[in-house]
Amino acid sequence: MPISSVREIFEVEEIQPLRKVQINEPNLYDIDLSFNGYDSQYSLHALHPYVAAINPPLVKKLIETYVPKHENILDPFCGGGGVLLEATLHKRENAGGDINPLSIILSKAKTTYIEQQKLQKAFIAVIEIAQNPISTDKTKINPQLKFWFKNDSLPFINSLINAINIVTEHDIKLNNLFKTIFSATVRDVMLTYRGEVRLRKLREEDLNKFNPDVLRSFVKRYKIAYERIITLPQGAVSDIAVRDIKKLDFENESFHSIICSPPYADDKNGVGYFQFSKNMLEWLGFTKEEISNHKKLFLGATKKINCLPESESLRKSLENVENRNYNHYKEAVSFYHDYNLGLIEMKRVVKKNIIIVIGNRVLSRTQFDNAQITVDFFKNIGVKLIHHYTRKLRKKRIANMGGDGGGIAKEHILVFEK
Ligand SMILES: C[S@@+](CC[C@H](N)C(=O)[O-])C[C@H]1O[C@@H](n2cnc3c(N)ncnc32)[C@H](O)[C@@H]1O
Repeated sequence: MPISSVREIFEVEEIQPLRKVQINEPNLYDIDLSFNGYDSQYSLHALHPYVAAINPPLVKKLIETYVPKHENILDPFCGGGGVLLEATLHKRENAGGDINPLSIILSKAKTTYIEQQKLQKAFIAVIEIAQNPISTDKTKINPQLKFWFKNDSLPFINSLINAINIVTEHDIKLNNLFKTIFSATVRDVMLTYRGEVRLRKLREEDLNKFNPDVLRSFVKRYKIAYERIITLPQGAVSDIAVRDIKKLDFENESFHSIICSPPYADDKNGVGYFQFSKNMLEWLGFTKEEISNHKKLFLGATKKINCLPESESLRKSLENVENRNYNHYKEAVSFYHDYNLGLIEMKRVVKKNIIIVIGNRVLSRTQFDNAQITVDFFKNIGVKLIHHYTRKLRKKRIANMGGDGGGIAKEHILVFEK
């Protein structure tokens, strides 16, 4: 069989952007939402990376256009905290949830103001203790972690987390911020390639060129926190906790708007959020069992076959996958079943707008038009699409598009009204 046909992808007809606006209705149709060349790492966005993070200038525009002052915002898939930080910078009350505990730590750190003086004092104490570790430092290094770090990085990483726990023991905000700075440091010195959707260890030739310096990295990350924490409004409070979108702990209509970017696929077949977070979480003291319990809440993890809500586009894609790989078929059914439960919860807790930023995905050489599927699922429960934008992506890697990930070139921004 010629290679070209082996690599062929079954494509469903893609959803077309909708352009239907009333006179004087605020919208973003005349703006280039790709934001090429814009700085997206201002304020505390640069504090800690997160895989497949949302574009901050895009969130800024969405808030300004769709969320009036004095109204509040929920991001139920808050990931690295990009939406919540923008909401905080724009002085909108906000709340967030995610099932990944790393996401909760980062999102809290990026939205919590702490006085610089207090930060500086704690930093000096942490460095002092970390550089003079007591030989009885408690934490035993997990042998599996040794695979991902240079041998000479391990003792100081260990001393740092011990020092952080000692210095910030009685101050939850400081503890959280220092854990974030520490976690970003761990990521900086980890022996993996950057910008990939799955963890991959550096090959021999790249390993030899990589000389991580734990202290330097920690100081660099601390400086970002110290210099930029003053960009946060004082006294801002975000309500951020581990939350499963399938069952949110909010009253009906608690939020004016939701702005979020859901996972495009289940954890196995999409972006590896837990792979990305695993080493950082283990250094922070999470056990394998705790991490695995969080992962079980991921959309699609239940693997129950259930009937799905109506969507012509989804039906066509599923039919194609069913013929190719029955396990993939079951995984996709599970994912879209849970995704639909999440959309129902979103409708329940929101008063006005639900804004979804999403792209297509591929499974068993079959394209899934996630934008069309979202529109269909919402239509079934009476939530209507009012605006639809697309934005060009310079590079966004997703799984299962050949080689290590491949990429998608377009993202949909779907604005729904309840
Ligand atoms: C595309 S990411 C969100 C990225 C985020 N907007 C940012 O800027 O970093 C999707 C997130 O959904 C989370 N997630 C997956 N299943 C979930 C569930 N059942 N409830 C809540 N969050 C979930 C993942 O852990 C991941 O952080």
